Amino acid sequence: MGITAKERGWKLGEITVEIDKKMTIHGPRKIESLSLNIDLPSDLKADQLKFLQKATKDCPVLRNLRGSIKINVKWNQSKKKKKSSLNFIPTNVFRETPQVKFFDAGVKGSNGSDVVIHHGAAISPPDDDEFEQYYVHHHQIDHNLVLQGSRTFTLLNPEWDEPHHVIYLNQKMGALEIPIGIYHQSVSGPEGSMVLNQAVRDSDFDPNKEFVPVSLRDRADLRRAKSVPPVFWMWDDGRIRRLKVGSFSGFYKKIMS
Ligand SMILES: [Fe+2]
Repeated sequence: MGITAKERGWKLGEITVEIDKKMTIHGPRKIESLSLNIDLPSDLKADQLKFLQKATKDCPVLRNLRGSIKINVKWNQSKKKKKSSLNFIPTNVFRETPQVKFFDAGVKGSNGSDVVIHHGAAISPPDDDEFEQYYVHHHQIDHNLVLQGSRTFTLLNPEWDEPHHVIYLNQKMGALEIPIGIYHQSVSGPEGSMVLNQAVRDSDFDPNKEFVPVSLRDRADLRRAKSVPPVFWMWDDGRIRRLKVGSFSGFYKKIMS
């Protein structure tokens, strides 16, 4: 594909190939089949795609392999990614006196509240052995407000241009909005934390279906999203800051140590 593109002066952008290998069950151990999942950029035209597909069939390596290994190829043209965006609903402090803080925790349209208390360094949802797990909602928008301590949220969305976000959430940042379809997980420090979620639920909300953890074990797309360097969100100098690792690796090292 690279040679074909170069000959025609095409810039292909990012192409990813995921390969699953299946070994033989009977007889001497060898590779039985390879399944290739080829992801191509969304702006590739139909005739370009045709040329590239033809080029893979002319590959000399393929000719050698074809006799002994079954090769299945699946072509996907990725959809254009949506721009990632996060909202924080500000809290309105009514009154603050020594040792007393009195504020409005309400979120417009909220029709359900839940409280999640972490006693110590807990993680929601807990890991599935060595794999992380995430919640995702289909009929609920979360608005997570820290009442006590601090909570680190990890958000994953393969459909975003920036698919991985880490939010060091404290009370001053307001309620973190987590839209429908965003995979999320949260973790507390050793002192634990308390979070109030002022949710907006639609009429199809069913608590039995809404809080089922999704394991990274079964989701290559989420593992890929997690491997992308994250965008960090934190409270700094009286405002919410958004930082990307590439532009601020020193800070990343500082907060991770
Ligand atoms: Fe949630």
